[in-house]
Amino acid sequence: DLRVCHFTTPANPYQSVTASVWIGDKIRGKLPMFQNGEFPKRRRHSERLTDMSLTPTPADKFTFGLWTVGWQARDPFGDATRDALDPVRTVNELAARGAHGVTFHDDDLIPFGSDDSSRRGHIDRFKKALAETGMKVPMATTNLFTHPVFKDGAFTSNDKDIRRYAIRKVMKNIELAVELGATTYVCWGGREGAESDGAKDAYVALDRFREAFNTLGEFVTDNGYDIKFAIEPKPNEPRGDIFLPTIGHALAFINSLDRPELVGLNPEVGHEQMAGLNFVHGIAQALWHKKLFHIDLNGQHGPKFDQDLVFGHGDLKSAFFLVDLLERHNYSGPKHFDYKPARTESDKGVWESATANMRTYLALKERAAAFRADPRVIAAMKESNIPGLTEPTLAAGETWKDLAKDSFDVEAAGKRGYGYEAVDQLALEHLMGI
Ligand code: GCO
Ligand code: MN
Ligand code: MN
Repeated sequence: DLRVCHFTTPANPYQSVTASVWIGDKIRGKLPMFQNGEFPKRRRHSERLTDMSLTPTPADKFTFGLWTVGWQARDPFGDATRDALDPVRTVNELAARGAHGVTFHDDDLIPFGSDDSSRRGHIDRFKKALAETGMKVPMATTNLFTHPVFKDGAFTSNDKDIRRYAIRKVMKNIELAVELGATTYVCWGGREGAESDGAKDAYVALDRFREAFNTLGEFVTDNGYDIKFAIEPKPNEPRGDIFLPTIGHALAFINSLDRPELVGLNPEVGHEQMAGLNFVHGIAQALWHKKLFHIDLNGQHGPKFDQDLVFGHGDLKSAFFLVDLLERHNYSGPKHFDYKPARTESDKGVWESATANMRTYLALKERAAAFRADPRVIAAMKESNIPGLTEPTLAAGETWKDLAKDSFDVEAAGKRGYGYEAVDQLALEHLMGI
């Protein structure tokens, strides 16, 4: 009879701890205790998670782009369905809901073409809202896609003057990002690509892409700025095909740069899934290379247009294993939601959906921790030999010569069943709260 306890520590009501205990057998005596000698309140596994454990706090490091909640829901077929949002209101609304911070494109905060004095005005009132709420700006980025000047790309435009203008626009906003305390600068190359393979030399485009990152790397180094770049891959949309379309392409590209240590990744759930790829595997590899500088969380239903659904509202099982992975590897960067409240939503729905992203993350975090701590899961994983992968293939001191001498019953090993279905079903049942 397995029960899962969820309890909060009196010292920090926001920090929830999950422990699995066997009720009615010898392990019962080892229930976790608070320092004051109290036992945590036990809840039945089937109980709904408490509101407390699903209430976001700044310590959870949830962040949102101004352009996410601020999306007016204009699409290729229809007009805006919502009014523009004042960035100051966005800061206040998100702070009230427990977010840690906001992020922005230059043009989200300062309308394109603003003169210097109105630019300052926009920055100053935004900074005031940040100071009043304690909200942070851990990341900023550049809009290199809306204005028609970027219709053929920015860093990889065929026009040298446009490439130079694009790098200048980035440098100007990096100065603001640094002023606001950001340590990550995202580069999403939405317009870097083509509709036709004859229109752009995809080989030479990489030279220009590299030149842009090398120039920007030199810019931040010369100025002593404490900021790193995070490339955000996407396979297509708005271009027919975008350069650096996946995590793997971007990782390889980073290794060709003058200062690879300054550049990592900002992968987005939906973007990898649009390419038919496994996002959990992509993130595992980004972590493995120590290149997960930032992450864009949202939801997507397989390869189609970029849906930007609320986190978890697409492939929920993948979201479960994603949170499991991020938490087990102590990913400590912001959990950034890059979603779009559906076009059907009014202002009320915008803020409800913002909260939904954070609640879903916290719920999945609890579910994943309970899954890992469940003795049935531990036993099933052991039975399946899942922990066997952690053992090096060659023992210390062994070489290929030792391995060459092995004898091995191939037929017997080929007959073995692994029992992964049992593990998968346990994951599903934890996810469903059964
Ligand atoms: C998209 C992208 C963008 C970027 C943003 C930050 O598909 O539209 O995900 O939302 O994340 O431009 O650079
Ligand atoms: Mn996207
Ligand atoms: Mn994104």
